[in-house]
Amino acid sequence: MAAESAQTVCVRSLKDEVDMPKNWTKSTWQSFPAAQQPDWPDAGALDRALKQIESYPPLVFAGEARTLLASLGQVANGNAFLLQAGDCAESFEEFTAVNIREKLRVILQMAVVLTYSMGVPVVKVGRIAGQFAKPRSSATEKVGSRELPSFRGHMVNDPAAHEDARTPDPQRLVQAYHQSASTLNLLRAFTKGGFADLSRVHAWNQEFVSTSAEGQRYEQMAAEIERALAFMRACGVDTESHSALHEVDVFTSHEALILGYEEALTRQDSLTGQWYDCSAHMLWIGERTRQLDGAHIEFLRGVGNPIGVKIGPSATADYVLSLCEALNPKRVPGRLTLISRMGADKVEASLRPLLRAVRDAGHPVVWICDPMHANTFAATNGRKTRHFDDILREIVGFVSAHRAENTWPGGIHIELTGENVTECLGGVEAVSQDDLDVRYETVCDPRLNARQSIDLAFQVADLIRTTK
Ligand code: PEP
Ligand code: CO
Repeated sequence: MAAESAQTVCVRSLKDEVDMPKNWTKSTWQSFPAAQQPDWPDAGALDRALKQIESYPPLVFAGEARTLLASLGQVANGNAFLLQAGDCAESFEEFTAVNIREKLRVILQMAVVLTYSMGVPVVKVGRIAGQFAKPRSSATEKVGSRELPSFRGHMVNDPAAHEDARTPDPQRLVQAYHQSASTLNLLRAFTKGGFADLSRVHAWNQEFVSTSAEGQRYEQMAAEIERALAFMRACGVDTESHSALHEVDVFTSHEALILGYEEALTRQDSLTGQWYDCSAHMLWIGERTRQLDGAHIEFLRGVGNPIGVKIGPSATADYVLSLCEALNPKRVPGRLTLISRMGADKVEASLRPLLRAVRDAGHPVVWICDPMHANTFAATNGRKTRHFDDILREIVGFVSAHRAENTWPGGIHIELTGENVTECLGGVEAVSQDDLDVRYETVCDPRLNARQSIDLAFQVADLIRTTK
């Protein structure tokens, strides 16, 4: 018998280690109730679009998802911090290199503030390159005097105020795939091709930021980092050869909402035999689709990617433990991130029993705080908004709940943009209700602008450092 090659043996042992989920295929979700799926008017057209996507290359690779899993494992163990941030919904219209670069720039700035001030590695995950589908509380919405089908994200329909625009169009799934591919291509170029080099830490500061108080604080920190780099070089450290100083990993994530699309991009890894949803490195399940017996949990339990689940104030300790068992039965650190979104007033009381239950059951969960989604309200002019103070207050409550239960406040999940928008109230520059109309550009929920985001990063870093 021919001797087996070393590679065959190695692959076989990797395969032995992977526990394939029982009774799961990438299509089993279809026999479970799937909330929030669009009413596609033409089943044939949907089928053709999904087959087209199925024939396309994956957007990310299994090995990259495993790298993120390992980094999130460090977060679960309390040795790193997760920054997950980006648009509420990406737009087919706002699709430019500048838009992507500005978003990346503010994520890099926040990450360097958190790393420098907290002294722990920061895992960077964008709500980017695939965040195109939105769950809605109601199937219809009032636009002016008309009742129209709700806008469900550019991957599904168009927000224009007429019936035709609101009809789900499956070719939008194909367009979302292509836009995700181009976005990811540019992200890879920016993060590996010099833009993210730490020696450019000053250059990441945009002019409208650097003239503000938080921008000044950033400038001061950037100068300290530059001095530290010069000091290392003077001591004989060859900073040129350290790739960690010149490149960063920015991973992609989105809400895995439209399950047909996610299934079409789910591929078997040739190295391990495990299935990965190759539409993004990390996928999350939203507050409205996290039913234990629902299709979203059925689908994601079978893929090897790191998974997130949004947890609102109605979640009980029993529910959260069942969720951990369903999505992470092997208790792999980094596999499951629970994204709490309780509201500034409720967070401490609602979260503590959940932290306690998960801790006592020994589940290695990454806990992060989404301080955006339960603090939204309508401003006097009807615009959806959030106040910077509520956002910060929810993070303060989140951190104190963790301190009280002796668990690690592992990160934050933020809706932001690199642009100088006026969508969220407050911050050092005090955006007021009257300012909201000046630059309100979001496709869905209100986002922090670059100044508010950097301000938040400083305040979060101070909070975590001082309450350690
Ligand atoms: C979102 O993240 O944009 C969202 C809709 O969140 P949630 O599911 O927590 O409401
Ligand atoms: Co949102």
